[in-house]
Amino acid sequence: MSMLKKSIGVLKRGGIKRLVNIIKSQKDLRFSSPNAAHPHTVTIETTRMCNLKCRMCPLRTLPRGNKFVEPRLVKRVCSELHPYLDKIIFLGLGEPLMHPRFFELLEIANSYNVRTEFTTNGTLVTEKVARKLIDHKVYKVNFSVDGATKKTFESMRNGADFTQVLSNIRRLSRMENAPILEFEFVCKKENIDELPEVVEMAGMMGVDAVRTLYPMTFSKKDSIDNIDILKLSDIFDKATDVSKRNGVDVYLKPLTPCPMKCVELWSRPYITIEGNVRPCCFIGMFYAKTSLFYRGIDTRIYPDGYNMSNIYDKPFSEIWNSQKYQTLRKAVAEYHSKQNNQEWTIHDYKELLKGNADYCEICHFRFNTMC
Ligand SMILES: C[S@@+](CC[C@H](N)C(=O)[O-])C[C@H]1O[C@@H](n2cnc3c(N)ncnc32)[C@H](O)[C@@H]1O
Ligand code: SF4
Ligand code: SF4
Repeated sequence: MSMLKKSIGVLKRGGIKRLVNIIKSQKDLRFSSPNAAHPHTVTIETTRMCNLKCRMCPLRTLPRGNKFVEPRLVKRVCSELHPYLDKIIFLGLGEPLMHPRFFELLEIANSYNVRTEFTTNGTLVTEKVARKLIDHKVYKVNFSVDGATKKTFESMRNGADFTQVLSNIRRLSRMENAPILEFEFVCKKENIDELPEVVEMAGMMGVDAVRTLYPMTFSKKDSIDNIDILKLSDIFDKATDVSKRNGVDVYLKPLTPCPMKCVELWSRPYITIEGNVRPCCFIGMFYAKTSLFYRGIDTRIYPDGYNMSNIYDKPFSEIWNSQKYQTLRKAVAEYHSKQNNQEWTIHDYKELLKGNADYCEICHFRFNTMC
């Protein structure tokens, strides 16, 4: 979509204040300003409940609990950030469509002209649900599809029925005014060969794009199963060829660690079910002190250190430009300016991980080595 079209869309949804804020936000990111414009996107943890037990999902190893975000949290976020908030992403470890009041959450966002997006395993997108998603003007739905065959898909997504999920996606994509649809594909040794076929499937099903993710691994054993980098490069080339022939966009992870700017700290906070504000969805998904493994190296994360405050304790605007947020923005800007001058090999990155770094310094999300 052209810049002009995007800007007109923002103007229609939120008026001039929303558009000016987005422009300011881009400028603040570019110049790494410690003070940031209002966030234009917020990621809200929706639930920690799930109907599947996927083999790669960290939810298996974390406490689950039947928790759901309360509509009053969404209402609070929308009203405090109005008219600047332009999009809510309902995400987290869990299945958003299990939330018994999910459509109420969408209605609240709609009442503030805020676009909505979420990621789903696709099992619960019945015809009735698909219609309701369209009626609630959902902007984008990301389906987790990590295989092109029943065998591979079901071995990754324990509890899901491949045929049923594909039929749910196909039905939604054929409906009038369907949201933008994307596949998310977690790359593992077991499924990587099927990536080009998944891209082809996306084309045939009317899905707009395929995005790859590298897995977060919570055990040393899992982290050893790396995919050979030459093989990966070959498969990514094939997937790109297929995407061109089928009119599907592909967003593939880089093959070597590649630091990018941290967009999240400047424009996209993550808010947990309890109302805790965390700097990003990546660190936000950890709600236990934990170890994250990358190629056998244990990376410690202390998520509590990244709690910015709670939205029920103080106004969001106070949290967003608090001393804690500003200090973290300054630190991350420094890491990035230092790291961006270097060509990174996997060996260099592993060496960096071995040190005693602050998590944002070695961030797997920012380095494109996970998720
Ligand atoms: C945790 S899920 C939550 C939404 C929904 N339950 C689903 O599976 O689509 C969000 C995304 O994370 C992906 N994911 C699952 N396990 C992962 C892992 N270990 N590392 C990176 N991404 C993972 C899922 O495939 C999905 O695309
Ligand atoms: S469906 Fe999503 S949240 Fe549930 S286990 Fe699978 S990846 Fe995790
Ligand atoms: S640097 Fe990484 S961990 Fe830190 S806020 Fe940004 S995305 Fe999150």
